Amino acid sequence: MIYPVLLCGGSGTRLWPLSRKSYPKQFTDVVGEESLFQASARRFVGEGFADPLVVTGDPFRFIVSEQLDDIGITPSGIMIEPDGRNTAAAAAAAALFVAKQDPDALLLLVPSDHAVAHPDIFRDAVTDGQAAARAGDIVTFGIVPTRAETGYGWLETGDETADRVFKLHRFLEKPDKARAEELLQDGRYLWNAGVFLAKASVLLDAFKEHAADILKDVQASFENAKQDLDFIRIDPDHWARVREESIDYAVMEAATNLSAVRFDSHWTDLGGWEAVWLETDKDDAGNALSTNTTAFDCENSLLRSESDGIELVGIGLKDTVAVAMHDAVMVADMSDSQNVKKAVKVLRERG
Ligand code: GDD
Ligand code: MG
Repeated sequence: MIYPVLLCGGSGTRLWPLSRKSYPKQFTDVVGEESLFQASARRFVGEGFADPLVVTGDPFRFIVSEQLDDIGITPSGIMIEPDGRNTAAAAAAAALFVAKQDPDALLLLVPSDHAVAHPDIFRDAVTDGQAAARAGDIVTFGIVPTRAETGYGWLETGDETADRVFKLHRFLEKPDKARAEELLQDGRYLWNAGVFLAKASVLLDAFKEHAADILKDVQASFENAKQDLDFIRIDPDHWARVREESIDYAVMEAATNLSAVRFDSHWTDLGGWEAVWLETDKDDAGNALSTNTTAFDCENSLLRSESDGIELVGIGLKDTVAVAMHDAVMVADMSDSQNVKKAVKVLRERG
């Protein structure tokens, strides 16, 4: 049995103004008809999978329950973080929860910001990773890279131990551009899809070895958690001490017991507007247009209006993103759209 853990406490600021502090991107229908979170939850249901555990922030707890209810999924628990401490803390808390029931249970960490064209193929890849995970490895899922992407982790593959399953020599999180170019040329590297499969006990051992401080503070927070309706509320006093770090930097870069299953089907992290544009159906000139938008002489642009009262019109635009909400409008050069994150920081500081 595999225990899916849905991580959905991120802030998703690079998709502002669609993604908001109180309603981040994973809960919106960025692409397709359901939210990214719902699509992620649906990916791992059925035979062989237990009801999912959700780890999220306090402001999102009712969104989570409603969205799961809408698609008929009952969570095994909804763990509430007093504030976001990044994925290492969230993963450690989840591993403690699962280990309490069964330390040998396989835990599947699932991010909620991905688009996967064929969920059944991803599910098969997870099934293929079970043997390595039971043998004591932390199993990652690798995508064949197509560009020198600096926003992903990169996996250096070694021997192929079973069909599409590799031992890993190294996990390199978010290399700089020059390094990413080298890794792309090298040919042995895969992108890390951000999904991890391991025994709960193996993950906890990796924390003990490589991020003992995080585990100690998370454990204290977890042991003092309170049950509130369906929610498991992590203790805020201990949680405030937890070091903020991603699991990739805190654990995976240092771990040596890593394997990867190569996933040969379409996958993308919807990290920014350019990724959304790539994922969306386009007209002959390469424009991705939502309802309430019109493009004249535009090329390779994304126009999106989320408000029925706002008609968004683009004229002569090239490689541009324009997103209109009822209370905010963002226009950016497509290649600069990652910088939305910086703009949001300034706006938040201004209050
Ligand atoms: N509960 C909780 N708490 N969830 C969180 C938190 C938190 O504090 N921070 C982030 N998450 C959730 C996000 O909502 C997202 O679904 C997932 O964890 C991954 O976080 P990201 O912040 O999106 O990570 P990333 O995309 O920069 O990098 C990771 O994913 C890449 C592939 O998408 C890494 O694993 C990379 O190595 C990987 O290539
Ligand atoms: Mg991501």
